[in-house]
Amino acid sequence: MRLIKEIDDIRAAVDEARRGGERVVLVPTMGALHRAHVLLFERAREVGDLVVATIFVNPAQFGPDEDLDAYPRRLESDIEKAGAAGVDYLFCPTPETVYSDGFSTFIEVGGLGENLCGQSRPGHFRGVATVVLKLFNMVRPDAAIFGLKDFQQFAVIKRLVRDLNMEIELVGVEIMREPDGLAVSSRNGYLNARERESASVVPASLEAASHLFTKGERSSEKLISEVKKYIEKEGSAVVDYISVCDADSLKDIDIIESRALLAIAVKIGRTRLIDNVVLEG
Ligand code: PAF
Repeated sequence: MRLIKEIDDIRAAVDEARRGGERVVLVPTMGALHRAHVLLFERAREVGDLVVATIFVNPAQFGPDEDLDAYPRRLESDIEKAGAAGVDYLFCPTPETVYSDGFSTFIEVGGLGENLCGQSRPGHFRGVATVVLKLFNMVRPDAAIFGLKDFQQFAVIKRLVRDLNMEIELVGVEIMREPDGLAVSSRNGYLNARERESASVVPASLEAASHLFTKGERSSEKLISEVKKYIEKEGSAVVDYISVCDADSLKDIDIIESRALLAIAVKIGRTRLIDNVVLEG
């Protein structure tokens, strides 16, 4: 695996691979790589021939009171993990390379970015859409892979690609979970032992609501109150939002009639966790 920092170098490497008939797949990440990233890299291998992963902790998607400075940065071990997982090029641009002096162009994906996490993280999806478009333009991949724990992020990126007529195949990869159901995330590392135990209430609450759905419950209010009931059992958990929305438009719905998303954001101590489940059938 080769580590690359400059845009010209990643473009040259990608151009050469494409001239050789290879299909280029991009896996954008913010580093602190874990098992769920490895799953994304494995999926990338199936989707194409040349796997490019990026590591860039994107300042534009963090609010002023969020964890930009605390966000884990572990380049040494990331290099090892990406190499072992079959990544061909690890592209790690500096903030100055991504946001050069006088940078002033941002991408706003209307509607989809405003509900759910968009409410408590204003500007977050503007930052995500902007950096993802920039990474697409820097690497020029044929396909890109994203984890579905960030379901809303994936929806925003799909809309971005559709609206801007970009020729990139997008692939969403199912959520990877710990044995107790907690979605694997870099932010799980912030939890102390007590908080980590409490965090299992998040997937348990979604499972309980999914079970109700399977038994025929279609009222969003009832499903949301089932989730709440579970979360409230855990004194240290504070709900940011629980939402049942249409899985495509992400607009809240009262009654589930087609594919819906049950999404949740909860704070355990100082750590904000998100999770979701698609309800269909
Ligand atoms: O999901 C992430 O890690 C980030 O939001 C992404 C897509 C790499 C953009 O910074």
